[in-house]
Amino acid sequence: MKVTVVGAGAVGASCAEYIAIKNFASEVVLIDIKEGYAEGKAMDLMQCASLNGFDTKITGTTNDYAKTAGSQIAVITSGIPRKPGMTREELIGINAGIVKSVTQNLLKHSPETIIIVVSNPMDTMAYLAHKTTSIPKNRIIGMGGALDSARFKYRISEALGCPASDVDGMVIGGHSDTGMVPLINKAVRNSVLVSEYLSADRMTQIVEDTKVGGATLTKLLGTSAWYAPGAAVSALVQAIACDQKKMFPCSALLEGEYGLNDISIGVPCVLGKSGIERIVEIELGEEEKARLIESADGVRKTNDLLDSVI
Ligand code: LAC
Repeated sequence: MKVTVVGAGAVGASCAEYIAIKNFASEVVLIDIKEGYAEGKAMDLMQCASLNGFDTKITGTTNDYAKTAGSQIAVITSGIPRKPGMTREELIGINAGIVKSVTQNLLKHSPETIIIVVSNPMDTMAYLAHKTTSIPKNRIIGMGGALDSARFKYRISEALGCPASDVDGMVIGGHSDTGMVPLINKAVRNSVLVSEYLSADRMTQIVEDTKVGGATLTKLLGTSAWYAPGAAVSALVQAIACDQKKMFPCSALLEGEYGLNDISIGVPCVLGKSGIERIVEIELGEEEKARLIESADGVRKTNDLLDSVI
């Protein structure tokens, strides 16, 4: 199993590290446009192999896509991250052109690859990848919901004073400060609804903290986060590589599901060796449905800007 990670910045390198530590891939190729950067990150990571006990071979290349040939999965993290005070949507001008050309370069050398889009504004970048290629829709997956759900579970665990591994919950909708739809009324600690333990105000606070999860970190770090994004991508890569049939909220191209069409947005998806093997239509409450439609309107507004930037 060969995996390419485009962009050797913090998210890309963290993603490569988690993939290697989980030891399910034979090879990870890191590729970056900055001379020597991916090679350096790959060498640093390989020097962890004997310490962390992994056999995955990590190599780096400066923009030579021939070295990515035959990748079964490719992750796109390239582009610029946001700075404090910026929204993900503001990155569209620079990132759209990058994602378009990266996607084409990847497919030239790995025509069968499954693409995971991480670059922001992620739902729009995933939509762009769908629109500018002719590969089947199950092979383009936007990573946002897995990360947002991990942040949601962290916030719930903080409120309950329990480990995050006791908590289950999902965030659907767009990967943006206003578009996320944390499904708080469905979240559970073991099998018990968190609403049994938490006040309505505390639940509202969890939802709001989750939605600005990335912005909160960007303010603290001066740039966007990387550990949880890297871990979330590696979980999707593992689900595909190991044909796990696990369910994650991912940005998927919708054709009528949830009453939405011609949009890539976060909905529950079963991931396996073919990529998105199934979009799962769960029963949503009236408010959850309304929030998802509102979120889709926001994503469409950003999608509408694509024509002017590419
Ligand atoms: C974040 C970026 C990856 O939410 O969008 O941290």
